[in-house]
Amino acid sequence: MNIKLLKKENFAPVSNKIIFVSEQDNFDKYNFTVQEKNYIKKAIKNEIDPIVINQYDCINFVLLIDPKKEKHLAAEKLRKTGNNLIKQIEHYKIKEIEIIDELAVKDYTLALIEGILLSSYTFHKYKKAQERKKTSLHELSIVSEATTAKDIEELNSLLKGVFIARDLVNEPFSFLNAEQLAQEIKKTAHTAGFSFQMLDKKKIQSLKMGGVLAVNQGSAFQPTFSILEWKPKNAVNSKPIVLVGKGIVYDTGGLSLKPTKQSMDHMKCDMAGAAAIVGTFYAIAQNNLPVHLLGLIPATDNCVNSQAYAPGDVVKMANGMSVEVLNSDAEGRMILADALHYAERYSPELVIDLATLTGAAVRAVGIKACAMSGTASEEDKNKLKQSGFKTFERLIEFPLWDDYADTLKSDIADIKNLGNANAGMIVAAKFLENFTLSPWIHLDIAGPAFYHHADSYRGKGGTGFGVRLLYDFIKAKTE
Ligand code: BES
Ligand code: ZN
Ligand code: ZN
Repeated sequence: MNIKLLKKENFAPVSNKIIFVSEQDNFDKYNFTVQEKNYIKKAIKNEIDPIVINQYDCINFVLLIDPKKEKHLAAEKLRKTGNNLIKQIEHYKIKEIEIIDELAVKDYTLALIEGILLSSYTFHKYKKAQERKKTSLHELSIVSEATTAKDIEELNSLLKGVFIARDLVNEPFSFLNAEQLAQEIKKTAHTAGFSFQMLDKKKIQSLKMGGVLAVNQGSAFQPTFSILEWKPKNAVNSKPIVLVGKGIVYDTGGLSLKPTKQSMDHMKCDMAGAAAIVGTFYAIAQNNLPVHLLGLIPATDNCVNSQAYAPGDVVKMANGMSVEVLNSDAEGRMILADALHYAERYSPELVIDLATLTGAAVRAVGIKACAMSGTASEEDKNKLKQSGFKTFERLIEFPLWDDYADTLKSDIADIKNLGNANAGMIVAAKFLENFTLSPWIHLDIAGPAFYHHADSYRGKGGTGFGVRLLYDFIKAKTE
């Protein structure tokens, strides 16, 4: 994170400023001339956004807040304004700027900062030093009665969590195999202060995790199963919340090879569920949230060699069920099933899995939201949906109706890993449902996890989808 956030008590008159105003303001506090004030009023009428007042020794960006707009929509608009502003800030080569929150609405101030910071993310590790893009801005000060230094620090750690998730997704398979992923998680655990344990292949074998092992058969690398834990003394929950993340570090489809180049060339993103969990753990531990949390990350690549698991194979899963593999590209459910079963030993209050699981979810809900389903209480599902609106990591729920499992019936095993061409995201969830008895929520993030084109503050590449969502949902449980 290159931009330093600071809380200031008063604004300096001659400083670059971002000013929140309402239509009723007369802007007397600021050093504006009569002409400038008249221009602002006219610009507001003409819906110019942001309004730029260049006073030569400082630049002012004036943002109008519409009090009639629904709060979560106004916040999202401000995140996007943050993205526009960072472009202007670059244009004027601004190094320092102050946000003056005259309206004292914390959520709006934080949303604007979020938009600015999320837009400043770059992944340039593999570029020559002189070609790495740096933002001109290095200090962002906040002058606000409603937003405390603690709020700002909390947001900073949360966004660092999003960056950690984005970095992990953007890392190519050439760097990030399953063992390397575990190493990276371990590093994050040490910085943030949560505990980390890794089960290696031997341990995975002794736990009879047939799903993880089957997918790993075609790999040149060892599988890993990472266990993250955050257990502060003041935790509000007696039973833990368990987060499970799909950690396929690369998905070729296996012997059921992905059919087109386009369908494979971004498959380094197939561990975005795992990445979101690591980012969430970072933010929660850094901010010391009083909640007992576990994270389970089964990881391997899904590649091809002569030992690769093959369509027609029957695999015995950790919970004892047999699965007839009819498509090796439906590998996510194979590894998640064993992890969901492993979660049972903690008697969780709630299990949430995140996975780039199906192309069907992308077809159904696109890339601006994620497909959700699950057996958890309506209350928890609704709260998660609310967090979805608040963070604009939105969820669309699909049912888990029993007859949607009909296509998973197998002639020779307990179930197959493949349905037919229809409603693939529901059928995948029905498959997973066999492996958990706990209250459970499944998030299929195949659409929003990775962007081929930038969409405002969500740039190209890994988006870090899920970190802000889960953080908000889990934090609400502690309040
Ligand atoms: N990793 C893919 C799903 C995916 C698609 C992620 C697009 C991100 C973007 C998953 O393992 C997969 O290949 N799913 C198959 C399942 C099918 C064989 C039942 C799919 O969706 O085609
Ligand atoms: Zn696949
Ligand atoms: Zn996959």
